[in-house]
Amino acid sequence: MDTVSKYNHAAERWDRKVLRLGYVNAYRQFLQNHVEPVRPVLDMGTGTGLFADAWIASGGSRDITLMDPSEAMLRVARSRFANASVCVDCIASTLEDYQPEHTFQTILAAHAIEHCDDPAAAIAKLARCLDETGKLILVVSKPHWCNWLIWLRFRHRWYAPETLRQWARKSGLSHITTHAFSVGPPSRTSFGYVFEKTALETLC
Ligand SMILES: C[S@@+](CC[C@H](N)C(=O)[O-])C[C@H]1O[C@@H](n2cnc3c(N)ncnc32)[C@H](O)[C@@H]1O
Repeated sequence: MDTVSKYNHAAERWDRKVLRLGYVNAYRQFLQNHVEPVRPVLDMGTGTGLFADAWIASGGSRDITLMDPSEAMLRVARSRFANASVCVDCIASTLEDYQPEHTFQTILAAHAIEHCDDPAAAIAKLARCLDETGKLILVVSKPHWCNWLIWLRFRHRWYAPETLRQWARKSGLSHITTHAFSVGPPSRTSFGYVFEKTALETLC
């Protein structure tokens, strides 16, 4: 089964599982110090929109584009924001095929880079999609045996923090912080990262 089919299959039970494992709280704790309240935001690999939801719950901008190649995941994301005063644009696409019409002040991506065939190129593309002073906020799987359990189902990858920071640096991004989640599965599987654009780059 390919990656998109796997996530189409997982969509209905995704929120329950992610909430139970503690990622929703972890996302909120991470984002609360990094929100930007007004300008356009992209959530790349949004899935059912849980990272975007944590962003908005933390006071982040409600002008938000949700992008994901899984129609079933995106359907849940769309319904999550249907009644909220949120300006949502939903785009069914991979990052690789995405052609944005404008740049973003903030780009979010939680556990999505791990599915891009060329993660360094993915970070470079995200950097080009940022405004001149934009921020890239990532949650990325790290080396830990727990990730093998997730790999059995989703065949994702994981990266050491220094590797990620190196790819970001090559893409004209400076490192602001690496966030260690404090408890539970998020503390074992992942780190949060905030990068800021430092070089002038053009639209993707
Ligand atoms: C582990 S889920 C994360 C979903 C959400 N960000 C969260 O934290 O709950 C990974 C998501 O990345 C999406 N994805 C897979 N390959 C992708 C690609 N090449 N470009 C963008 N998104 C992709 C999947 O469809 C899936 O919804």
